[in-house]
Amino acid sequence: MRRLWQKTILPPPVVREAMPLEFRKLGFSMHQDFDQLALDAESMGDIRHSMTQLGNVMQKCVACHAAYRIVVER
Ligand code: HEC
Repeated sequence: MRRLWQKTILPPPVVREAMPLEFRKLGFSMHQDFDQLALDAESMGDIRHSMTQLGNVMQKCVACHAAYRIVVER
């Protein structure tokens, strides 16, 4: 799949290494879903399809927020 986001917003290695693997997988998968949403919106122009995709990807927002918090250790 064409990746629209990776070059511009991949976090620096020190940040990536601090993230649990499952967290990173969920983040990658969310970005892929948004890439697909953007590509489909461009090629299909079908708002109902885009809204369905948006509803599905937002489940991942909720799932991740329910499972993870950023904790700063002092
Ligand atoms: C892979 C995990 C992950 C996914 C997926 C994710 N988030 Fe988050 N998000 C976080 C974490 C971690 C924080 C920091 C929360 C904290 O520590 O309180 C955060 C914080 C936020 C905040 C700031 C909340 C605040 O209290 O300031 C917003 C807004 C937000 N996310 C929106 C979204 C939206 C919209 C999506 C989906 C399109 C999304 N996030 C998907 C992990 C994720």
